[in-house]
Amino acid sequence: MRKRIEDISLSIRQISEKARECEDCVNFHIGQPSFDTPEHVKKAAREGLDQKQAYTNYKGIEELRDQIVKEENAKKNMAGRRSITEDNVLVTVGGMGALYSVLTAKVREQDQVLYNDPCWGPYKLMSEVDGNKWVQEKFFNRDRELRDEAREKIKQSDLIFVNSPSNPLGRMFTEEQAKTLGEVSKDYGTFLVSDEVYHRLNYDREHYSPAAYNDESAIIGSVSKNHGMTGWRIGWIVAKQDHIENFGKVNRAMNACPPKISQIAAVEALKNDKHVKEMREEYRKRRDLVEKRLDSIGWSYRNPEGAIYVFPEVGRDSWDFCLEMVEKGVAMVPGESFGPESDQNVRICFGSASEEEINRGFDILEQNI
Ligand SMILES: Cc1ncc(COP(=O)(O)O)c(C=O)c1O
Repeated sequence: MRKRIEDISLSIRQISEKARECEDCVNFHIGQPSFDTPEHVKKAAREGLDQKQAYTNYKGIEELRDQIVKEENAKKNMAGRRSITEDNVLVTVGGMGALYSVLTAKVREQDQVLYNDPCWGPYKLMSEVDGNKWVQEKFFNRDRELRDEAREKIKQSDLIFVNSPSNPLGRMFTEEQAKTLGEVSKDYGTFLVSDEVYHRLNYDREHYSPAAYNDESAIIGSVSKNHGMTGWRIGWIVAKQDHIENFGKVNRAMNACPPKISQIAAVEALKNDKHVKEMREEYRKRRDLVEKRLDSIGWSYRNPEGAIYVFPEVGRDSWDFCLEMVEKGVAMVPGESFGPESDQNVRICFGSASEEEINRGFDILEQNI
């Protein structure tokens, strides 16, 4: 076995295992939408079973790449900056397949990868599996200005991963922030990976892609969260054609192609997407409720503008706190796993819990802090 694989610890599993042991645990820990796949999407998949279930083109079926082109070109700040065509799209096995293809294809031995502090934990897991050198730095200050330390790290790094709407922060880039990240990474020749898998789950502001300002970039998309389709495992990469050819080689080595039936379902989800608005409105209500309950506890937090997470500061060691609370019946993710700056924060996912469950979870928290 490779030592670097043996050395990886999936410590976060402790919380899931304890949550499973406890009856009626409130699950604030998993980023799993409570919504199931919309019925019309399932119907399209059932009908799709009548087709031969063969390998598809390794880049994905044409109808799906067409829908992805429409989805990406419709992003608020794309018009006039980048024109995406089918040649710029690679369909992958989930957003994770997209991220891993980019890391594997792009990062050379001498390269350094830069992540935000905090960032979604699996980025670092992927880097560890792939053997990349990586660093974490907090990108923006409270006034949404790029910090000098972050600018310096972008200069020193070969790839930067950015994520809006953000997991775990629930924050979204303003147009200015997106522009800054795009332009600064372009000026320093740092390849930009923009993870936009939550781009349709926005509550208070428009989604702006930093990749609109830097052609040397890859946009990561997915149907998992926006459409309640985590189990279908469909994601994508948007990049320049020569990059797509290279990312495609990794995709091909790992999967040959994404499952055909899932691609058929994803076409329907992107084409007839009224369900997204309904899901978003429900998440917005849960977001409002979570803010109300956090305000009454008195924890400090930044209000979630998108995605399905909030990241309050609990004023204690995040691991101790989460291990204690899961015993009481509320499962959350310790902030420390997202980055060293967040060892007193916890991530609460409101996408997986109903309003009733959110209230029950916060009642338990209030009684036990
Ligand atoms: C920030 C972020 N990026 C990418 C993904 C990957 O999503 P999927 O592989 O289900 O498309 C997730 C899933 O939780 C995520 O939170």
